[in-house]
Amino acid sequence: MTDTTRGDVRLSGISKKYGSFQAVHPLDLTIPEGSFFALLGASGCGKTTTLRMIAGLEDPTTGTVRLGDQDVTALPPYKRPVNTVFQSYALFPHLDITENIAFGLRRRGIKSVKKQVDDMLELVQLGDHARKKPHQLSGGQQQRVAVARALINHPKVLLLDEPLGALDLKLRRQMQLELKRIQTEVGITFVHVTHDQEEAMTMADQVAVMNAGRVEQLGSPAELYENPQTTFVANFLGTSNLITAEVADSSGDSLVVKAGDAKLSLPAARTSAETRTGGKVLLGIRPEKISLVHADEAGTIAAGRNRITGRIAQSSFIGVSTQYVIDTPVCDAFEVYVQNIERDGRLTPGTEVVLHWNPEHSFGLDAAQDIDAGTEEEVTA
Ligand SMILES: Nc1ncnc2c1ncn2[C@@H]1O[C@H](COP(=O)(O)OP(=O)(O)O)[C@@H](O)[C@H]1O
Ligand SMILES: [Mg+2]
Repeated sequence: MTDTTRGDVRLSGISKKYGSFQAVHPLDLTIPEGSFFALLGASGCGKTTTLRMIAGLEDPTTGTVRLGDQDVTALPPYKRPVNTVFQSYALFPHLDITENIAFGLRRRGIKSVKKQVDDMLELVQLGDHARKKPHQLSGGQQQRVAVARALINHPKVLLLDEPLGALDLKLRRQMQLELKRIQTEVGITFVHVTHDQEEAMTMADQVAVMNAGRVEQLGSPAELYENPQTTFVANFLGTSNLITAEVADSSGDSLVVKAGDAKLSLPAARTSAETRTGGKVLLGIRPEKISLVHADEAGTIAAGRNRITGRIAQSSFIGVSTQYVIDTPVCDAFEVYVQNIERDGRLTPGTEVVLHWNPEHSFGLDAAQDIDAGTEEEVTA
């Protein structure tokens, strides 16, 4: 074993069946030591089950869990160098913050806890609240107590199961930055479970996107966003416009694809599907990568850009940008976000427009997939 894998969490062929229901399909995953790792997916996709198998709170049906060079699959939770923070902080209401944080040390029979508790209070910036009871703190502060209480045991891995789910949006955003800071400061591995893609992207170095008990794609937030490999990932992380197209020429570094009257260019290196001339492919493009001009100005578009004509169906001004929905012959609700720099007042519903973008920003997906997988309607259905 090399040094670089010493503290990694390694799941090999791990799966979980409840009766005949396969909650987690056999899964191989390496979580690098010291990383902030997110398991992201819709409710019911198997995130908590996976986390509980790492913690030892759930027996895997198959597979092993290793922490560094130690196989911990058969170890009970308390013998694993792992601690868990849940959404319900489960603080002791009758104990003050100091004693809540000291709990793990006291249980191990450690008497002089002051130094370690003070360090933890400082880490989570609650030094002024040491003698308060949990009910005298805000939700975000209580969550920080729960994190401090888990970290004081010096786990190798901290597991967090939707820890910010009970907080309102503003507090959640603050706590995201706070948790990221704490993780950077203590440098231990955090495995964070969430259904909120923005939360996962804000905090994590690596994100595993889960769908129906499987990891669909693993990567950094930017990799997942810029080059999704499945329709689920393309739709679940942000918004994607997906155009069903026919491959007209697959011989070059850029594929030439046809959708309606439009001939579009698609980098072969950004296409995860097998492509052959005459076959189908989905061309994806993010809404903020697209420029929009009035049809009268089509002549001003630089050569070499992908372009499609359409008609504005809806426009919503939201301050930093205007979000347009465009009817096009190739995709009936094309979304385009235009940053609010100089607004063309003519771009109102009913107007004929041309959409254009740098072909390099397109990505290609296997057309055999469900084009709507991972959209909000699908996920909440
Ligand atoms: N103890 C259990 N018995 C039966 N089914 C379970 C049990 N725990 C979870 N499940 C099912 O397994 C699937 C995955 O659950 P879970 O891991 O909690 O999902 P997530 O955390 O992603 O929302 C869900 O369909 C859930 O209903
Ligand atoms: Mg869960």
